[in-house]
Amino acid sequence: MRQSSALDILKTGQNVFLTGSAGSGKTYTLNQYIDYLRARRVPVAVTASTGIAATHMNGTTIHSWSGIGIKDELSDRDLTTLSRKQFLADRLKDTAVLVIDEISMLHAKQLNLVSQVLKHVRKNDKAFGGIQVVVAGDFFQLPPIGSKGETNREKFAFMSEAWLDAKFHICYLSEQHRQVSEAANGGLDLDDILNQIRRQEVTFESIAALEATFDQNVDIKRTRLYTHNLNVNSINDKELAALEGEMMRFTATSTGDSKLVETLKKTVRTQDDLVLKVGAKVMFIKNNTELGVSNGTMGELIGFAAVKIDDSKDSSDDLIEDDDDSAESENDKNVKGKSKKAIKEKPKSKKPTTQKMPVVRLNSGREVVAEPEEWIIEDETGDVLASYEQVPLCLAWAITIHKSQGMTLEAAEIDLSRTFELGQGYVALSRLKSLAGLQLLGMNDMSLQLDPLARGADKRFLVLSDEADANYSMLDEEHDAGT
Ligand SMILES: Nc1ncnc2c1ncn2[C@@H]1O[C@H](COP(=O)(O)OP(=O)(O)OP(=O)(O)O)[C@@H](O)[C@H]1O
Ligand SMILES: [Mg+2]
Repeated sequence: MRQSSALDILKTGQNVFLTGSAGSGKTYTLNQYIDYLRARRVPVAVTASTGIAATHMNGTTIHSWSGIGIKDELSDRDLTTLSRKQFLADRLKDTAVLVIDEISMLHAKQLNLVSQVLKHVRKNDKAFGGIQVVVAGDFFQLPPIGSKGETNREKFAFMSEAWLDAKFHICYLSEQHRQVSEAANGGLDLDDILNQIRRQEVTFESIAALEATFDQNVDIKRTRLYTHNLNVNSINDKELAALEGEMMRFTATSTGDSKLVETLKKTVRTQDDLVLKVGAKVMFIKNNTELGVSNGTMGELIGFAAVKIDDSKDSSDDLIEDDDDSAESENDKNVKGKSKKAIKEKPKSKKPTTQKMPVVRLNSGREVVAEPEEWIIEDETGDVLASYEQVPLCLAWAITIHKSQGMTLEAAEIDLSRTFELGQGYVALSRLKSLAGLQLLGMNDMSLQLDPLARGADKRFLVLSDEADANYSMLDEEHDAGT
């Protein structure tokens, strides 16, 4: 289906699952639809399953937007607590269209929770409380992380009750906008190889073409994609050590129950002792609407600026924050994020302290100061059980493949030698525009494999999309004939 047909179907207000291969323009089409809605003042909630994916639409995570945080289930008491949060209840009531990108990484249980919360708050028993739901993604890409021993069958969003309830119309995009044609490679393009992977018919010739990139020199500013956090961290540490710019150390502070503080740290994925230097490639790990950054916004550290830090806490509405790897955490408490603001004037009661804070030039060119943020866990009554405070940045020369899903990259160094998830290799390779930008360091037996259940589902989605396309053009013709 063409993007324009999908857009026409979206505009009818039906629930839609927008799918298609990596680079077919799912996110692009979502953005077109979001612009269309905003121009007509239709309240649209823009979300994705991970923080970085949400940045491609200037949105937030679905966990944060819906208030479900990192929970797997909601008791009646939880639902009552959530609906009493006025700003959250207002937000859910005021929304007419909910967009969720990178649906493949959203756990079936979590999609059910989103529908459950919307039904409860909107007092409407229809799927997702009766609003238009648009989900986008490609189930050949990464599945949700889930808990140990869980199969993809239990995790995939399309296996959930909420999915069936929503009666999605399927729009399967058939164009390719990311990969460019490379006639120079004897006719074998990255696009051809990726399509072979989708069909699970990868030729020896394609494997040879991938392996031939091992020694290829790609741009020094390449993004480095690894399967494991351990490799990502060690590369980032090495890169940092090699820099000679001004260095600053930021030490985290915490209060409350030490076990809960540990849980917070795992969710936030920052360091107690964060060492940063001028020249470092960094990424924000928390949404901050005031600064205009999200969990996943990337940039370069260009200096340190003295700012006054106030000790009084503000009640930001950036509630129940989650990390984009939230599913990795088995914790089921609410994790909240609160912004600590620097104050421009003298505070009335508490003494401000002046501290040097990192100045980051975002990839967009804008410069912002990253001030400490606070994450908290609270009980049902809103009492704080534990808190953790740190500068909301992490090093980002290397990132995990999970975090790269949704990105378009000019150049990347990719290591698939320890692939542990079906679809992981496809996600990594499909970030690139061409083989010319790839340096592949290694593969294992799993690297080019896809999930068989996803393959079955994908075939069905294609058939349903063709039907929707045919029905829609028929309606269109009837409409034209009648006018
Ligand atoms: N109609 C279009 N015109 C111009 N550029 C486009 C169009 N559609 C997509 N693109 C560009 O192609 C690239 C891939 O598109 P996009 O990221 O939307 O794909 P996707 O289907 O969301 O991929 P993924 O599955 O990896 O998330 C982006 O750089 C996007 O801006
Ligand atoms: Mg996308």
